[in-house]
Amino acid sequence: MSRIETVGIVGAGQMGSGIAHVAALAGYSVLLYDISPDRIEKGIATINGNMARQVSHGKLSEGERQAALARIAPAPNLQDLAGCDLVIEAATEDESIKRKIFAQLCPVLNPEAILATNTSSISVTRLASATDRAERFIGIHFMNPVPVMKLVELVRGIATENETFETAKEFVTRLGKTTTVSEDFPAFIVNRILLPMINEAIYTLYEGVGTVEAIDTAMKLGANHPMGPLQLADFIGLDTCLSIMQVLHDGLSDSKYRPCPLLVKYVEAGWLGRKSGRGFYDYRGEHPVPTR
Ligand SMILES: NC(=O)c1ccc[n+]([C@@H]2O[C@H](COP(=O)([O-])OP(=O)(O)OC[C@H]3O[C@@H](n4cnc5c(N)ncnc54)[C@H](O)[C@@H]3O)[C@@H](O)[C@H]2O)c1
Repeated sequence: MSRIETVGIVGAGQMGSGIAHVAALAGYSVLLYDISPDRIEKGIATINGNMARQVSHGKLSEGERQAALARIAPAPNLQDLAGCDLVIEAATEDESIKRKIFAQLCPVLNPEAILATNTSSISVTRLASATDRAERFIGIHFMNPVPVMKLVELVRGIATENETFETAKEFVTRLGKTTTVSEDFPAFIVNRILLPMINEAIYTLYEGVGTVEAIDTAMKLGANHPMGPLQLADFIGLDTCLSIMQVLHDGLSDSKYRPCPLLVKYVEAGWLGRKSGRGFYDYRGEHPVPTR
């Protein structure tokens, strides 16, 4: 098995910063890169705040927080990831963006380094073909928010070697997460089941069956979900939800996965959920207010 000491993360958004958080707490050295330098700064500030909350809840000591933060360094350039043993790509859910990243990243990495993608839905085999290391390429699909959610889906591409799989599994286990293995089908297991439910909730809103509040309350109290589907969509990011539905629709060629036009409209408006301040709820005031 390969030894992982330094982990590079590409994309410092919700997921990239969450992965940096748990990797640093588990003792790995972490380098955080994003195309936008502001996002790296913001990502590290978020990690700082979330670790402070863990300290105030007694889940972490102040010393552990300081030590973990000291293990995270910003990487202003992709070239800074050259010495990493494992690089996890957690950039925007857009295949062309991910392909461009791999084209720039592969030439600077050690030939033995493992490259992973945190994609929610895109074929790991197809992404592997955009790299120079399909044998050392794997899907490591974390859930959001990473420090809280216990599951990680591992997805082998057609060429992924066993050693890569075992190294990834050991890494994820050291983070304290439980793994499940999914075959390389569009959206894997969790999102294959979850996203059509969220999309259906958006159709329910679109067709006027219920308001945002009615739909979320119905699923919380009627199906015992901890969070309503529209609240969850805002939390995931509506751009990410739309991309996953498009991957399901294209990849499985079944009209049952047709993205709801209202979801498309919200994304076109730049209403991406919590991360942009507005989605099915408006988060700009003191309390979230339904937008429909
Ligand atoms: N949001 C979720 O619930 C969730 C859960 C599991 C997996 N994922 C997956 O994780 C990935 C990231 O999602 P997110 O929710 O963190 O999105 P996000 O929008 O919060 O962050 C994406 C980040 O990628 C950066 N980026 C864009 N192009 C880049 C490039 N060329 N190089 C480097 N960075 C670039 C953006 O600047 C941004 O900071 C996606 O593949 C998504 O499908 C998301």
